[in-house]
Amino acid sequence: MESTKLTASELMELENKYGAHNYHPLPVVLERGEGVFVWDVDGKRYFDFLSAYSAVNQGHCHPKIINTLVEQSKKLTLTSRAFYNSQLGLYEKFVTGYFGYDRVLPMNTGAEAVETAIKLCRKWGYEKKRLPDNSAQIVVCENNFHGRTTTIISFSVDPDAYQYYGPYTPGFIVIPYNDTAALERALIENPHIAGFLVEPIQGEAGAFVPDDGYLKRCYELCHQHNVLFIADEVQTGIARTGKLLACDYEGVHPDILILGKALSGGVYPVSAVLASNDIMGVILPGQHGSTYGGNPMAAAVAITALEVIRDENLAERAYELGVIFRTEMRKLCETSAIAKFVRGKGLLNALIINNEGYKNLAWDICVKLLENGLLAKPTHTNIIRFAPPLVITEAQLYECIAIIKSTIGEFDKIPSKIPFSEMTGLE
Ligand SMILES: Cc1ncc(COP(=O)(O)O)c(C=O)c1O
Repeated sequence: MESTKLTASELMELENKYGAHNYHPLPVVLERGEGVFVWDVDGKRYFDFLSAYSAVNQGHCHPKIINTLVEQSKKLTLTSRAFYNSQLGLYEKFVTGYFGYDRVLPMNTGAEAVETAIKLCRKWGYEKKRLPDNSAQIVVCENNFHGRTTTIISFSVDPDAYQYYGPYTPGFIVIPYNDTAALERALIENPHIAGFLVEPIQGEAGAFVPDDGYLKRCYELCHQHNVLFIADEVQTGIARTGKLLACDYEGVHPDILILGKALSGGVYPVSAVLASNDIMGVILPGQHGSTYGGNPMAAAVAITALEVIRDENLAERAYELGVIFRTEMRKLCETSAIAKFVRGKGLLNALIINNEGYKNLAWDICVKLLENGLLAKPTHTNIIRFAPPLVITEAQLYECIAIIKSTIGEFDKIPSKIPFSEMTGLE
């Protein structure tokens, strides 16, 4: 179907009419992307400050990644793992060397990789830690977001994520995030814990950064209790937070590392679980897998995507630009009644807004940002995440900071506490 013949509202109507309503997109229909920019079907250009939830760290349609995708697609796309393929071994050697692990288990989506890590951890618990059958527990944190599968939502604390999807998968202990004492208590009280699954920064919770030293202390506690430290770096990993991994800030090398999203630069679903020989060795043929996991397209694309991160120094860039962004947002917070504070690391940041008396303030601000040429999405009713592709230049970042400041300024001028969306009919 030629989408260009339909108007934006007709295209939105198609999604509304024929698609499940499991998302609430901003009213913009995108057609093209390049680097930090995306264009809608009417040719209007936007700065992308979501980066497909941090999948497009390398920028939209990075020419090197696209070239690999196109060239590999002409040769071989899928074999299944019933056979060897010419790309997978190369990728496995590359990605394990890149992140410092012995072995990788390739999957497609982030949630699949988290599921894989859970299975790996449980099996390790039974075979290596010698836990009694069916007793293994995994400690997770409040306000986590690890994906949408039935097992993963079983340990979510967000009713939207879990309600009416029961019965739930047992075997998880939920403790507060950023609370090493709570982890220590759980480890002392329960001898059947196999792993601790944690986001080094909670992304969906609104770029919630734990205290310095939190990850290191958790890692030490896990090791004292012979428990695997499992880092879900699906959103934080691959240069997003200003280091290759967010765990690198504390010199922590997770026992199991979960990656996804930017592993392909946003051109293909690629995820991975990395671990040592000792841990990965518990999974044998026939015990886990995926038809598409490790396919030659994914393997070739992931190598190039990781090369781009390294060759373009994107972690360093994210670090430096992140400092500028937060400095400027702090200045905004000093003068704005609406902007409360900013938090984040590298280019994974969130602005917390004062939405008292405003029904949908974060949403309304995002709609205004859209009108002003910048795409961002609220997470919760009072948090706006700002996560541009890491290829953004300093000049572009300052341009975007100006857009954000003037947009927030428009809301600061509203005298009453009438919801802006009701005043303008923007909702
Ligand atoms: C930390 C984390 N883990 C897992 C996932 C799930 O990834 P996917 O949507 O590819 O299944 C996400 C997605 O946002 C995430 O942020």
